Amino acid sequence: MPVEGFAREINESSFCQARRGTRNHRHAKGVILPRGPLWPAAVAAIILSACAATRLPPPAAGVAPPPIVESSVGPSWRLIAVGDFGDGAASVFAGVVRVHREHPADAVLILGDNFYPCGVATETDPGWSSIRQTYSTLGIPLYPVLGNHDYGEPQFREGSWQPCRNADPSAQLRATSLVPNWVFPARSYLLRSGVAEVAMIDTSPIAYGFGAPALGGDSASQAVERLRLAISMMQQSGDNRWRIVAGHHTIVSSGFHGRMPSSERGRMRALLPLLRQGGIDLYLCGHDHDLELVSGDPLFLVSGSGSEPRPMVALMLRTLFPADTRKRFGFAVLDLTATTMSVAFYDGKGELLATPFVFTKRQR
Ligand SMILES: [Fe+2]
Ligand SMILES: [Zn+2]
Repeated sequence: MPVEGFAREINESSFCQARRGTRNHRHAKGVILPRGPLWPAAVAAIILSACAATRLPPPAAGVAPPPIVESSVGPSWRLIAVGDFGDGAASVFAGVVRVHREHPADAVLILGDNFYPCGVATETDPGWSSIRQTYSTLGIPLYPVLGNHDYGEPQFREGSWQPCRNADPSAQLRATSLVPNWVFPARSYLLRSGVAEVAMIDTSPIAYGFGAPALGGDSASQAVERLRLAISMMQQSGDNRWRIVAGHHTIVSSGFHGRMPSSERGRMRALLPLLRQGGIDLYLCGHDHDLELVSGDPLFLVSGSGSEPRPMVALMLRTLFPADTRKRFGFAVLDLTATTMSVAFYDGKGELLATPFVFTKRQR
């Protein structure tokens, strides 16, 4: 059954009220809460972390706008969205191949944590063979963003952010001319097609709260400013194309990272007003190793079970998919036209997991 239009807006206060009301709604259709003697404490912890407020960092000056990648000019745009495939890129690839054979996609959005556990050190790192042997063979553009593991899960020590081993996030950009179909022009960039624009953003500086440029990339302020510029470029397009923001870290999610660590969650949640003011239709991410679609303004799509799937913590009231918290491999496919956006979920073998969710475009 298609879902028409957009469900009620999630705003911070109503979201927190919804969480506070879960005790009374624990038997409501589609709501699954932790059971057993620990659940009151667990829900209290969830509410406290979910309602922590964080402000956006102040605007940064002198930030260059993200480069534009013209991706497609056709009347439709079909995108495979897969995240967190960094244990070798093969876990769901058979399913991606099957779906692409049955109905060819235009491109793959790669949602970060592309290499576990410590990114790659160079553009010729042996780890690249995993991409060359899988996604590169599809013959369509691969548009990535960086995840926290691509940054080498940095720790702040002795005055600077230090990655595990010798991870170099910039190596993934330099691989653009070396790895077939890998298109990574900048840590944040704007993908443009005839029916939609996707701001591919580097969320690690924001999620970690980098106070200064680190590991060859932005500070948190600069990364937010680049997102602000990308949204303003979408607005200046002056048309009514779908507006999507894609990054690695979650903003709203029923998985572990939708709640913890609360500092990271608060910094990501602080992006919401910016997304809403910009008329963003969909926020797309990985980081939580599961698949989820949450209604709201914007819609939230998590596609992070490209490898090492994990069970979700507890479904939110507004979760449209899935209906349970079991772990599952998989990926999502977006089909966009001028007026409709379909979101479909597939498992690692390419089996459709639910009837696709179809949304009609709102007027701005
Ligand atoms: Fe991950
Ligand atoms: Zn991650």
